[in-house]
Amino acid sequence: MSTYKVAVIPGDGTGPEVINEGLKVLDAIADKTGIKCEKIMYDLGGERYKKTGEVLPESVIRELRTVDAIYLGAVGHPDVKPGILEKGLLLKLRFSLEQYINLRPVKLYPGVWTPIKDKGPEQIDFVVVRENNEGLYVGEGEFIDKDTPDEVAIQVSRNSRKGVDKCLRYAFEYTKRRNKRNNLTLVGKTNVLTYAFDLWDRAFNEMAKEYSTISTDYAHVDATCMWMIKNPEWFDVLVTDNMFGDIITDLGAMIQGGMGIAAGGNINPDGVSMFEPIGGSAPKYTGKNVINPLAAICAGGMMLDELGEHTAAAKIEEAVMDVTANKLKSLSAGKMGYSTSEVGDLVVKALG
Ligand code: IPM
Ligand code: MN
Repeated sequence: MSTYKVAVIPGDGTGPEVINEGLKVLDAIADKTGIKCEKIMYDLGGERYKKTGEVLPESVIRELRTVDAIYLGAVGHPDVKPGILEKGLLLKLRFSLEQYINLRPVKLYPGVWTPIKDKGPEQIDFVVVRENNEGLYVGEGEFIDKDTPDEVAIQVSRNSRKGVDKCLRYAFEYTKRRNKRNNLTLVGKTNVLTYAFDLWDRAFNEMAKEYSTISTDYAHVDATCMWMIKNPEWFDVLVTDNMFGDIITDLGAMIQGGMGIAAGGNINPDGVSMFEPIGGSAPKYTGKNVINPLAAICAGGMMLDELGEHTAAAKIEEAVMDVTANKLKSLSAGKMGYSTSEVGDLVVKALG
């Protein structure tokens, strides 16, 4: 029997509610497939910060380095200044655990409403590989003459050849493993960001030579937004930098049915990875038992997949698809026709 040590950070807002349902489903699938998940709970987030001033103690980072995976609910609290938890907790974890990939599938499940007319599950099924440790997110920059009429703010995008190569390597290997259309698209802005995306473009084309079975192309990020709406079926796997990846995956979440279903993995292929619903803490729905837990449940499935439990992961996805196709009226909070915990129960039941 495989046993995994999973650190659970329910976090803020609706995070604990959706993580509860995710854990319910993980326990159920573990029972059926002979996996054991040992959970270690962490109370990190806005409440702990308000009480103790602590965001992410070094000792916790040390502990997290020893687990098999991290399962995260949401980060962001209405009483805490924006940035403190996002940068101090979420980004700090991504950076210090070197989770250099942010893997975000954009897949329309059966029965789910998409705002794109005449497109269905056949047309909306691609994956964004977002670089997760560099770019504009490194926090490099400065103010010059702050609070004067001559103020200038500088924000640096850092793109190291090694960091870009690591991300591209993952993207090519992932495209091969996925084995759907075997196409990898580099998304950038080579016509304006002539340093950053020159490097990305050169690295991409060089690496492409090693992958004779994978076709490659390039799209500017603005055009990508257009095509994601007009012709989503053109995409198989997209690889891009941290900032563009952040933006296009919110667009992706909307075309797959909204934040209620969008999951992601912060992946360190050689270390500890962290899985989360990408929707945030949704404070206005907190404690109401109305938020959609499917994104958290899907994130749990991605976690099992990364741990090598492919069968268990596939079973969770099938159960989720069964529920979207046959049960839910909508994926939006409060409109599902079921409460948060009932949706968790439905998925458990669909596991058979
Ligand atoms: C995401 C979020 C984060 C990001 C925020 C909360 C820092 O938007 O996971 O996409 O920008 O990466
Ligand atoms: Mn985002």
